[in-house]
Amino acid sequence: MKFFLDTASISEIEEAVSWGVVSGVTTNPTLYAREGGKLAEFHAHIKRICDIVDGPVSAETVTLTRDEIVAEGETLAALDPHVVVKVPTMPEGLAATKALSERGIAVNMTLCFTVPQAILAARSGARYISPFVGRFDDISEDGLEQLGNTIAAIGNYEFGHPVEVIAASIRHPQHVVASALLGADICTVPFKVLGQCVKHPLTDRGLESFLADWEKVRNS
Ligand code: G3P
Repeated sequence: MKFFLDTASISEIEEAVSWGVVSGVTTNPTLYAREGGKLAEFHAHIKRICDIVDGPVSAETVTLTRDEIVAEGETLAALDPHVVVKVPTMPEGLAATKALSERGIAVNMTLCFTVPQAILAARSGARYISPFVGRFDDISEDGLEQLGNTIAAIGNYEFGHPVEVIAASIRHPQHVVASALLGADICTVPFKVLGQCVKHPLTDRGLESFLADWEKVRNS
């Protein structure tokens, strides 16, 4: 499983990339707004992320008709070869995904909640599909069960192009564990969750005792 970082924060991306574990970045309008993002700086911000990350960077479209989404997607894709155009799962989104993928532009179909949505996304040409886990949990449904069903269903078929499932809307390390066990190709995680995944109290305790014992060796 690859790790993507689910953020628009430059400092978080720089730090996580320095750990050598980040294969890509996913952003969305909420994450950009959270960074105090300005409309006029959006394209430069995406380009800056692409310069830091050696991998796919998802930038989301914010229009609702196929022609608008395609135009937006073409503009975003022209920013950098790493840009993946993120398109919401809806009929106009499917039509736009078909057009963009036919033009060689990679699409990450987002806001995907069900197996049929995922299969339709793949059929329309989406290179990546992002089932949301946490938002199901928010409404007392089992997001991981939906993720597992989606991975199994997508794995049953050939779509004529590579399709990778990105476990998204990840809220805690247990979601990461389950995503790996269910066979998600990619897990996109907030920086906080990436940090939680690295840490373990037994690691901290073990390091503390190794360093204490090494002090004895140094003083011998
Ligand atoms: O990138 C989209 C997705 O990961 C959103 O997560 O926590 O807002 O449901 P969340």
